[in-house]
Amino acid sequence: MKTYSKIAGIGKYLPSYVMTNNELTNYMDTSDEWIQERTGIKERRYAKKHEETTTTMGAEASKKAIESAGISKEDIDFIIFATLSPDYYFPGCGVLLQRELGITKSECAALDIRNQCSGFVYGLSVADQFIKTGMYKNILLVGAEMHSMGLDYSTEGRTVTVIFGDGAGAVILQPTNDENEGILTTHLHSDGTHAEELAMISPGSHGGKHLGKDKFGFEETGNPGDIFVTQKMLDDGLLFPNMNGQLVFKTAVTKFPEVIQEALQKTGKSPSEIDMFIPHQANLRIASFVQKQLGLSDDKVYNNIQKYGNTTAASIPIALCEAYELGKVKKGDLVCLAAFGSGFTWGSALLNWAI
Ligand code: ACO
Repeated sequence: MKTYSKIAGIGKYLPSYVMTNNELTNYMDTSDEWIQERTGIKERRYAKKHEETTTTMGAEASKKAIESAGISKEDIDFIIFATLSPDYYFPGCGVLLQRELGITKSECAALDIRNQCSGFVYGLSVADQFIKTGMYKNILLVGAEMHSMGLDYSTEGRTVTVIFGDGAGAVILQPTNDENEGILTTHLHSDGTHAEELAMISPGSHGGKHLGKDKFGFEETGNPGDIFVTQKMLDDGLLFPNMNGQLVFKTAVTKFPEVIQEALQKTGKSPSEIDMFIPHQANLRIASFVQKQLGLSDDKVYNNIQKYGNTTAASIPIALCEAYELGKVKKGDLVCLAAFGSGFTWGSALLNWAI
């Protein structure tokens, strides 16, 4: 009998502080009108500085997912944590989450995924393979981000800063023999050609090597610490993310439809059979473009970037959880997930909703 993996439980966590577009105008030269017109975003959530972290938010979402699956934390045998804003440079959030949840059994393993906006879809695919081979029975997959701690709130950083928000989403994956409640297919891609076009390149071991010494603050002082993080990097604001917005936009609107078509072709389905499409919440204009390409009506797409901004690895599980809680995703529905982001990396998944 063939084994599939299914999403058996889901949860989300959004911090309580609402950062509106208008409040951002206190820090930078921007406007509610500009942000809404270009991105669709009205507000985003910010976590409590020094109280909450990416891991603690991931833990809150995980607790809800564990409860929703009707299992106990001790049943979890594998943790996959996707984020680009980890608590520490290392170790990753996977083990921190394990500790936060109080999972003490040594049979549990933890893996961190650094695939930015595609992190959740990559994690879903990894989990799917491990369950299909029989290696694990209860996988906790988390996408969480605390962007608010790492953004440039000056006018110089406005293009990036207005887009991002904090939050977390989590799912539990379990085996099933029923195709009608399983993941049907996942598709992953990457192309590193434009790696630096949507990136935070410092701190890092590059030390300015491939990127122009002056621009990236590399100074040959003979002090090893300077190679990793220099004062000049701090002074020049280089410890912030940068984005070539137009290149990201143009590439995203090509890759999203391509990778969704790939999943549809693999399963012999047509766009009209999709009951719910949940795109990574990058930008409402990108999501609307992809919706149009697929010919999907508004009730077959769920977007919530308006309320939460772009929460990167967390955006798909947060949107999926919210759509489920609102009754917009029901048992048996064909759900399509797709993401594109930094790397560039992109991916898709088609699944029959099981809960
Ligand atoms: N507020 C006000 N004005 C701004 C802001 C802001 N927050 N940001 C930029 N501007 C200004 C610029 O300075 C520029 O002014 P100028 O004409 O006087 O020089 C003007 O607005 C236009 O700037 P552009 O960068 O050309 O604006 P564009 O129309 O490309 O919009 C945006 C920028 C929204 C980032 C767009 O390129 C985009 O949507 N790209 C996709 C990127 C994306 O979705 N990223 C999400 C993260 S990655 C991911 O999840 C896949």
